[in-house]
Amino acid sequence: MEKEWIHPKTITGDAATAERYLRREYINEEFWREVQKGNHILFVAPRRVGKTSLMKDLVINCPEGYVCVYEDIEGVKTRNGFYQRIFELILRCAHRSKFQEAKVFIKRCTEKYSIKEISTSGIKIDENKIDYEREIRELIPQLKDAKVHAVIFLDEFAEVIYKFKGDQQQDAVDILHTLREIRHDDHFSHFTIVYAGSIGLESVIKNIDRPKLINDLHPIKLGALTDEEAADLVKKVTRGTSIRLSAPVLIYLKRKVGYFLPYYLQLMIESIDELAFKIGKPKVTVEMVDEAFQRILGERKNFDDWLERLKSYQRDHFPFINEILKHAAHEGNIPIQAVYDKAKKYDRTEDYMDFIDELIRDGYLTECNPHVYRFIAPFLKEFWKQKYPIYEK
Ligand SMILES: Nc1ncnc2c1ncn2[C@@H]1O[C@H](COP(=O)(O)OP(=O)(O)OP(=O)(O)O)[C@@H](O)[C@H]1O
Ligand SMILES: [Mg+2]
Repeated sequence: MEKEWIHPKTITGDAATAERYLRREYINEEFWREVQKGNHILFVAPRRVGKTSLMKDLVINCPEGYVCVYEDIEGVKTRNGFYQRIFELILRCAHRSKFQEAKVFIKRCTEKYSIKEISTSGIKIDENKIDYEREIRELIPQLKDAKVHAVIFLDEFAEVIYKFKGDQQQDAVDILHTLREIRHDDHFSHFTIVYAGSIGLESVIKNIDRPKLINDLHPIKLGALTDEEAADLVKKVTRGTSIRLSAPVLIYLKRKVGYFLPYYLQLMIESIDELAFKIGKPKVTVEMVDEAFQRILGERKNFDDWLERLKSYQRDHFPFINEILKHAAHEGNIPIQAVYDKAKKYDRTEDYMDFIDELIRDGYLTECNPHVYRFIAPFLKEFWKQKYPIYEK
């Protein structure tokens, strides 16, 4: 009888958790070190790099003395709505603390705000005419006596701020102001916010022309895995499964992927397993690695977002940016002279380097030689070529 095929535990949609997650201890350590110093954190990483996975891991493995909650706040649409979320998150943190002082704090709040129920997923309040901004300013200073240091992870924060446009732009500025004020007031020392999002918060803030509002946040960079970590992740997700990767095939796979975002490796293993399973051959070959790579590219949804977000967040500058990327995709790289020549066409000779810097910071390009830029990931480069098979030099 044939042995049952055991598939690897890959995940390519939601955040990676538990046995699907590869922890980088030094990132967790840096994070807690900075929180202990009193810093508030900004996670700087483009899409699919692993921000949500990391935040969920930090929440679960929170050191003694802190209470963490993670929240995706993408649905927040108003200023009061934003403060309401913060208010609820503070109460949820306090609710989870085991200290008697925290229980007293919760009891007081329950009475004051006519709270019907507090659970891990949310709170229910009868009366909803609360000025949440005013109330959180009152609540946060009480956390110290309640013996709760609340660490609140706000995922998709940058997107929320970005969406406050037109008439609402002032609301975004007010929120950023209030948060900055809170960060700098000693009464608020038992309260830490972690800001994240898939669009660069810096670019969003630049557009509303208020860079000072976030320049005190401590940025933690989240990049690709090292060579060794990449091998560890592949081993972790394939351990005990049917597929077999020899050392030379693993080297080949790493060279093919080129840039070790855990996401790319998870996609590769998933695709290789599907192929191997289909033909009933557990021993992975270099040809199978090549085919898996092509199949992943064929699935538009895997990379479309990289293009779409440039189109939306860089709407006015997209044609210029895309010229740079098309050149880099087709020619293998783009030297600064070629960037400059394109800048002349788009009347951007004053600030063309800002665009290069942003493309580097957002995880599209890297500087491979002095003043020569190429796509950081072969997947992205090939995707761009596929999307724009024709280009004019
Ligand atoms: N540390 C990790 N270990 C294993 N896989 C990971 C890790 N981090 C990220 N991944 C992979 O990357 C994918 C995306 O992870 P995650 O959702 O955390 O990224 P993100 O930066 O929050 O993405 P988005 O910008 O789309 O919200 C996961 O589905 C998983 O395949
Ligand atoms: Mg995410």
